[in-house]
Amino acid sequence: MIRYFTAGESHGPGLTGIVEGVPAGLEITEEYIEQHLVRRQKGYGRGGRMAFEKDHADIQSGVRFSKTMGAPIALSMVNRAYEKDDSNWPKVMAKDGERGDVENITLPRPGHADLVGLQKYRFKDIRPVIERSSARETAMRVACCSIARKFLKEFGIEIGGHVIQLGKIGYNGWDSVRKAADPLAENGAESIYKAADESDVRCLDEELSHEMREEIKIKRKEGTSLGGIYEIVVTGLPAGLGSHVHWDRKLDGQLAQAIVSTQAMKGVEIGLGFDAGKTHGHNVHDEIIYENDSFKRRTNRLGGFEGGMTTGMPIIIRGVMKPIPTMIKPLKTADIETKEEQDTRYERSDVCALPRAVVVVESVIAPVIANAILEKFGGDSMSEILERYQNEK
Ligand SMILES: Cc1cc2nc3c(=O)[nH]c(=O)nc-3n(C[C@H](O)[C@H](O)[C@H](O)COP(=O)(O)O)c2cc1C
Repeated sequence: MIRYFTAGESHGPGLTGIVEGVPAGLEITEEYIEQHLVRRQKGYGRGGRMAFEKDHADIQSGVRFSKTMGAPIALSMVNRAYEKDDSNWPKVMAKDGERGDVENITLPRPGHADLVGLQKYRFKDIRPVIERSSARETAMRVACCSIARKFLKEFGIEIGGHVIQLGKIGYNGWDSVRKAADPLAENGAESIYKAADESDVRCLDEELSHEMREEIKIKRKEGTSLGGIYEIVVTGLPAGLGSHVHWDRKLDGQLAQAIVSTQAMKGVEIGLGFDAGKTHGHNVHDEIIYENDSFKRRTNRLGGFEGGMTTGMPIIIRGVMKPIPTMIKPLKTADIETKEEQDTRYERSDVCALPRAVVVVESVIAPVIANAILEKFGGDSMSEILERYQNEK
């Protein structure tokens, strides 16, 4: 089973990742990982950090001549912002020595981890919470998970996401999204992300992309922030990944966990999702047909899942991201020292990180699906697993 860990703080010297459980013989390069890191950095609505944040993950171990060795893969990523930053890290976050005259940050931002993190760990300064809860960590998640993504590609399984709603701007229902995404998915889900990447708001529709950009401009001027909804499609799957037999083996549930574990994600829909509760059964369930020697579904309104198992149809999963909590126009908060009401402080922040978050979510679901493949067709090397996959799928 593939597991991964990340370590590192937002403004610290760098991020570290360890990916354990990757079979031997998987071709992986720093270039492959970097393409997804670059994608994570692009998107309309970014704040000032983009200028000096050029991410690259160094493979430190576990790979030889571009192939995995079955050993843990260690990745390290330098924070380019570290040296150019105004956070004064070596002093305010020094790993040893005395605290000296370092002032506490005492104004927790509503919607961020600030207050609860501080209460939980009994800090007097919010810095350690800000530093670790920040979505800077998602850079290393993308790096780690892109190895699982590459693993899936060896089985013809592709992942691609796009933005379907940003604030009040979005598609007019399920069918209009299907019209935009399904023809692309016919050629594999990566066609979806490649087309979406053409838009700096990662929306497949040109007119909507324009409106979304305008919406971000307006909200930036107003000093507020935006979230939205994205859809991730996974193609090339065999039927029967996951299992109906036990709650924690249901793959749809595992995917939902991975998505909601990502900073700012507040909900997940599978297929029609919440719309399925607004209509009758004949508009929801997908009729079964037998075509070209296999069972298929006439439609895919349940998003590729029945009983927590893949049906062999593409997975269609959506997530909602809340608006960014750090905003130029302040909210009210209470100072943790004086207990007095104050305006929140502002630090450099995105207005809307939704287009970038799509890449993060594409990434975090990859190890979950990779583990479902490993569970069903497992082995220690790629050749062993691929052999089993060809024989048994
Ligand atoms: C890609 C990405 C970028 C983000 N950028 C910011 C940001 O610039 N400023 C901010 O306050 N929150 C940002 N967030 C959201 C916060 O990290 C998140 O709201 C916070 O950690 C609290 O976690 P929760 O929203 O899951 O409760 C971003 C999230 C993602 C996924």
